[in-house]
Amino acid sequence: MLKSDTSVDPQTHALMGRFFCEQCDTVRRLQKAFNDLERSGKSRLADPARMAGLLAIPGADVWPYEGISGLIPPGQVSYKSAIAMANPIKGSSNMSRQQLIDITRREVENFQDNRIDLMPDVMKVPTADYYDQERWELEVERIFKRVPLALAFSCEFPEVGDFRTMEVAGVPVLIARDERGDIGAFVNMCSHRGNYVADEASGNKNSFRCNYHAWNFGLNGDLISVFDEDNFGDVDKSCNGLTRLPTAERAGIVWVTLNPKSTLDVDLFLSGYGEMLEYLAFDETHLAGRQELEGPNWKVAYDGYRDFYHVPILHRPSFGPDGSHQPDYYAWGPHVRVTAPQNYAEQANKTEDEWDIADLTPGVWTIFPNVSIAGGRRGRGGGQGSYMFSQMFPGAKPGESLTTQNFLAFGAPDEVDEQGIKDYMSLMVDVVEGEDYFTGFRVQKALKTGAKQFSMFGRNEGGGQLFHKWVDTLIATEDEDLPALFENIPAELALPRQPKSAG
Ligand code: FES
Ligand SMILES: [Fe+2]
Repeated sequence: MLKSDTSVDPQTHALMGRFFCEQCDTVRRLQKAFNDLERSGKSRLADPARMAGLLAIPGADVWPYEGISGLIPPGQVSYKSAIAMANPIKGSSNMSRQQLIDITRREVENFQDNRIDLMPDVMKVPTADYYDQERWELEVERIFKRVPLALAFSCEFPEVGDFRTMEVAGVPVLIARDERGDIGAFVNMCSHRGNYVADEASGNKNSFRCNYHAWNFGLNGDLISVFDEDNFGDVDKSCNGLTRLPTAERAGIVWVTLNPKSTLDVDLFLSGYGEMLEYLAFDETHLAGRQELEGPNWKVAYDGYRDFYHVPILHRPSFGPDGSHQPDYYAWGPHVRVTAPQNYAEQANKTEDEWDIADLTPGVWTIFPNVSIAGGRRGRGGGQGSYMFSQMFPGAKPGESLTTQNFLAFGAPDEVDEQGIKDYMSLMVDVVEGEDYFTGFRVQKALKTGAKQFSMFGRNEGGGQLFHKWVDTLIATEDEDLPALFENIPAELALPRQPKSAG
């Protein structure tokens, strides 16, 4: 049992009292978690997600960390970080939690008043922007190669040596967890003459040995050895490692910037959205499935992900006629959450204190420029719920894109409803390939005729409006001006709140 810690401030003390019973329970669960981990022989890198699942108790963030830290073996995840991941409602900053509450309050009001928030005007986007080769190349260079991209998940790299390879916007990428526990991303390119140093899509290795002439690289990208070095000649190993790409882990997501020289900081780019994404608790999930779909132009594809307007119409065959077509949009920098007041009936019947994490996070969370996150603890896939985390990547030319659908399930792998995930994956092929992209390819073909000069985004399509404004702004922004753009986001790149009856 914990001793009362007199060094904490009186307010914390009072709150401790309030959560006294939970505290006892947490100590027991914490101790059991470590015992289980010791028995299973798992590395400490696997601990946070495990701890997170075991510590989901409201109010845990206000306990004095030092009081409980004696229970934690040296070298293990800190209590504070376990709590932060375990209890995302209370574990993150007060400001981000307050934002979730404010949004939920707003959505309940809009639900009760039968209204949505509208943009001031209809916006026109030139149709040529969807098929013009030069424009598309600029988008790839100035967006996909300059901003941090959400490429992978921390839960895919629980152990030292876990790695993944992928190709993004024509760049072969290797992501690996090194001996220090850090995630690094590199151009998957041997320093000798350019062969890929890792072939497999994923796996676990001690080092990356190029299969062309056997140069060997460490998990941190360092060049370890040169085959037949005496006859090869002088090579300074210290400066011939793999080319490192800016990499960060935030909210259980691995962010990578494809241009090694980019100076855009990940937190600046996230504009506070990283803290919001923590509430989705990707650290409590594991990858339960992954599939790829070919699609039309990346923007044609992405337009559909910030759009509920089409849901009961285009998706009537799959989702039925009842999905809401009237959402609200909330933005953090270029990143937008789409959520419909219609889905807040339950929250309206509860007090604010009763809102749980699922009440606070419904809707589709998009990450600029190419990610959409659907689902959640009350999501499809059976079991304890799951996410579909979709990544759209540009293909080889303007009219092509490739979408990776990642299915992240809550709970341990052996607890997952496998059939539920399979059904979810199959449904998402029908919905996205059979309905969204089937339509997208038609849109793409029709746009290219030039018969219309503009596509339109309505006042009710604020998410799409903001997306195109950011795309335009980014391709017009020089490298040296990029950080300043995110430091002082201009008013025209934000979303106004203009409530209006939805009718
Ligand atoms: S290209 Fe890799 S060792 Fe030669
Ligand atoms: Fe859709």
